[in-house]
Amino acid sequence: MQTLESPAGSTAWTPGAWRDRPTAQQPRYQDEEALAASLRQLRRLPPLVVPEEVEDLRRNIADAVAGRRFMLQGGDCAEQFADCTPGAISDKLRILLQMSVAITHGGRRSVFQVGRIAGQYAKPRSKDTEMVDGVELPSYRGDLINGAEASLQARLPDPRRMVEAYFHAAATLNHLRALVVGGFADLHHPERWDFHGSTRKVEAYRRILDQVRESIDFIDAIAGTRGAYLRTGECFTSHEALLLPFEEALTREDTEQGFHYNLGAHMLWVGERTRALDGAHIEYLRGLRNPIGVKLGPGVSGDEVRGLLAVLDPGKEAGRLVLIPRLGADRVRDVLPRLIQAVQATGHPVLWSCDPMHGNGLVTAQGLKTRNFDQILAELRQSMQLHRALGSNLGAVHFELTGQDVTECLGGSQQLSELDLHQAYETGCDPRLNQSQSLEMALLIAEMLGERAVR
Ligand code: PEP
Ligand code: CO
Repeated sequence: MQTLESPAGSTAWTPGAWRDRPTAQQPRYQDEEALAASLRQLRRLPPLVVPEEVEDLRRNIADAVAGRRFMLQGGDCAEQFADCTPGAISDKLRILLQMSVAITHGGRRSVFQVGRIAGQYAKPRSKDTEMVDGVELPSYRGDLINGAEASLQARLPDPRRMVEAYFHAAATLNHLRALVVGGFADLHHPERWDFHGSTRKVEAYRRILDQVRESIDFIDAIAGTRGAYLRTGECFTSHEALLLPFEEALTREDTEQGFHYNLGAHMLWVGERTRALDGAHIEYLRGLRNPIGVKLGPGVSGDEVRGLLAVLDPGKEAGRLVLIPRLGADRVRDVLPRLIQAVQATGHPVLWSCDPMHGNGLVTAQGLKTRNFDQILAELRQSMQLHRALGSNLGAVHFELTGQDVTECLGGSQQLSELDLHQAYETGCDPRLNQSQSLEMALLIAEMLGERAVR
């Protein structure tokens, strides 16, 4: 049995030890019996993923730390139960695969996908209430916790939603796995992920697909066989570990190894609002074997980062931690260098990612939350340059995106303006890059990585 000292130095870690810590962003359930029944049921249900897959993701992340691979993490801000449909799921896998092909081709780095998918159902909120159509209601906290409908009844936290979330995650993951096993992600058939539309960027992507197809024919001809390794579609799952009773109920001990895994997803991350060093979320996450992402906003200090590294990665193991700064295009130059230097001084082998979404929020005159493509790109570009200048490696990116033709973020080659946003503004929480903006972003990432490859 694995025994971890708590930072306070006294008690050993258990999946429920977080209950003694201040726990931010939790709903207050009124029906305690229903809560207990849901948690009991979750503890009995089979896990959604298995430890071997989590270990595989750890190895992939370690390879990305070493610069051999690149991690593409992306998906909805808030997944919704109503979006658990075959079309929405295959669109999400398709856009991640399209982006991966573009990045691998131009950036010369093999890419693995981690979806914000099959469990991204809980949202931290800055305020307990929000105005909906002129009425003040308790904030929507994600389908795992309450309903988005504009009524007091829907906004009450309902513990039965945890079980519903489990089954929606299971159905989503089942479909993802079936698509991959069925050959959806097979590089021999990239035409399955062709694009609707005809912008210049789509033409560029089609040329890449043609080149990939030719290269694959060539490799198969030399090998005299069709390469099975080209079924590269593994898609790992991730979500924010926010609702701790739910996460605890999906935690399982591997008695052989003595590790605890959260088997509700391959990777979990802790959000900017819940990463307090002495808080419940860090206490829960530190005992898991899963790779852990840590969001870092512009207010984070070098001391906080050092503290988080010491608690979450005492063994200094590559594959364990992904740091995800989300600073904003106009703050990144001030803040990121000292974060990079603080981490370098500790010797922790973290994977550096960049979330260029959450520091670049805007509200339009019509009151819609949006983000500007150019700001997103600017944060990413500067991050890459700053890492390079300090001898560090940006080995991952983190996006809120969808494979569908929504109109939530401004700009991109479609040049979406504030007046266009109402056409298909569908997000359950934050604005996402649409299919065309996502692909365009991938082509630009490929270009940035490629500049380094030829140097
Ligand atoms: C998110 O990733 O949706 C999110 C809420 O991020 P952050 O914690 O960085 O604000
Ligand atoms: Co978000």
